[in-house]
Order: sequence, then structure tokens, then C-alpha cells
Amino acid sequence: MQTHKPVLLTSTVSRMRLKPAGSYADCTAGSGGHAQAILEGLNPEGRLLAVDRDPDALERCRARLHPWAGQCTLVHGNYAQLARLAQEHGFERFDGILMDLGVSSPQLDQAERGFSFQADAPLDMRMDQTESVTAADWVNQTEVPEMIRVFRSYGEERRAKRVALALDRERRKAPIVRTEALAGLVSQALGGRRGRIHPATRVFQAIRMAVNRELEGLEEGLEAAVHLLAPEGRLAVISFHSLEDRIVKHFFAAHAGREVSLQQGGAEWQGADPRVRWITKKPVTADEEEVAGNPRARSAKLRVIERT
Ligand SMILES: C[S@@+](CC[C@H](N)C(=O)[O-])C[C@H]1O[C@@H](n2cnc3c(N)ncnc32)[C@H](O)[C@@H]1O
Repeated sequence: MQTHKPVLLTSTVSRMRLKPAGSYADCTAGSGGHAQAILEGLNPEGRLLAVDRDPDALERCRARLHPWAGQCTLVHGNYAQLARLAQEHGFERFDGILMDLGVSSPQLDQAERGFSFQADAPLDMRMDQTESVTAADWVNQTEVPEMIRVFRSYGEERRAKRVALALDRERRKAPIVRTEALAGLVSQALGGRRGRIHPATRVFQAIRMAVNRELEGLEEGLEAAVHLLAPEGRLAVISFHSLEDRIVKHFFAAHAGREVSLQQGGAEWQGADPRVRWITKKPVTADEEEVAGNPRARSAKLRVIERT
């Protein structure tokens, strides 16, 4: 199994401008690459709350962060509930919060997790295996119009309707419960392979995002995170999908606000509470060297804000 190569590692951690004795949260600890870099920038008083919704990932992370066990709290949970998790584990405010979105390489590589169309496995795709809805449940129970919306909007699949109707026809005969069966049906509906990319790529991504309620969780997580930042605390988000980046950009822009001229003269700041300032208004992306060594980095976009 491949270990997860952290994306935009130096660019991210340098922009978090670590305070050595500060409190930090890594909301998507994964294999612990970013978390380790954060801990290396802290002194023994600094603390890190490392959260992941995937218990397997958390165990890998625990092994990696063992040398910092005394200053690092590992928690199984969803960053949508960051406020509760922070409170339960004694963190009041954070000097920096990181969210590195999406799936990790180990999740994709473990065939039995059912994320990949490249190996046959039960259709699962849950990042958190303690949750109840699997990809098989979603594929067999979701109404056709909702399937079309998900394939079109999360997967940017232009022939979403054709795929949804084909899956609906098939599931009426027998439930679709394996990754290979789903990949085959999608591929068939789309007329087989044409380019370099497997025809089921976009539909698999869309189902993963729906099963894990990724976009809904992101909005809740951002809202929680911005309220938990200490003054001058920084929030860094790495996204991999245009819809995620759009949510992050709009959320940050709303809190960065703008100066509006007043009729009676002068200007007034208008924006969402709490107020923040941009650290990277234009997203930071990976350079060619990083992309060559880690293709996942190709679509990564880093945005950072600071609470004023
Ligand atoms: C791209 S990986 C993070 C990799 C990590 N930065 C590293 O260096 O190894 C994303 C991780 O976020 C986790 N994750 C995704 N959505 C989450 C959520 N809503 N709450 C908590 N963890 C989440 C996934 O389980 C996965 O382990």
C-alpha cells in the first residue's frame, strides 16, 4: 500500500506561520504528513488536535506521531463537529487549523474499502466505516433525479441521465453491490473507454462525495473552524475539486468582506462575522516538480485566511 504523500506541504505549513507554543488542529490528519510538519514547528508547549473520520487512518497517524504523543490528541470524528471535538478535548481556540480535503492514497489503494473501480470489492466508499450508508445503499436506493444531479454536479458527467437510467434498469433486476459491476455498467452506458481516463472515474467520484456528504460537511467544518480561530489564527484549506474550492473561496470572501462607501462620506466594512483577511487570495498550486512526483497534487488548491 502506498503511503500518502502530503500535498503542498511546505507551502501550507509556512503560510500557517506557526507559533511554537500555539494550539493547532489538523482536521484531516490522514497518514499524518501535515500533522508531523506542524508538530516539528512547535516547542514542547505547543499542542495539536488531530482529527480524522477514518479510524484506520487515525491508527496510521498515531504510529507516525508517536514521538509527539504527549502534545498531540488524536480523535476519531468529523470536522463538521469540530467545535464539539475541540471542547471535549480541552481546546478553546486554535492558532491555526488545517483542512486537507478528500480521500487519501491508502483509502484508494485498499481494494476492500470499495473506492476504486480498478479492483473488485464490495461497493462501500465510506470514509468512516462506523457510518451506516454505503455506496451500495446509495446506488440502489437513490431516486433517479437525485442520481442525475449528483453525477452532473459532483462528477461533471455530461451524460448523467444516461448513466442513472442504466443503473436504475439494472438495479430493478438485482441490486448493484460490487465495484466491478458498477464500473462495468457505467462504462457500458457511456459507450466504453475512449481516452486515457476510465469512463467510470467521474461517476465513482460523485458517488463518493454523496455517500460521505463531503460538500455539506465542508460548509459546516469551515463555519466551525473560523469561529474557533484565535486572533491572528490562520485557517488553511487544500481542495481538490472545483466545487470544494468554490465553497472555500466564497466562504473566505464573505468573511474577508469589503469596504463600502457611505452616502454621508467615509466607508464601512461589510462582511460575515468573524472578520478575516486573505493570506492567499489567489490559490497556491503545486509546481511541476511536485506534480511529477505526486499526480494527486495536480488539482490541489491552497487558500489561507487569518482572523483579524
Ligand atoms: C487528503 S487526506 C489527508 C492527508 C494528510 N494531510 C496527510 O498528510 O497524510 C484526507 C483525510 O481526511 C479525512 N476526512 C475527509 N473528510 C473528513 C471529515 N469530514 N472529517 C474528518 N476527516 C475527514 C479522510 O478520511 C482522509 O484521511
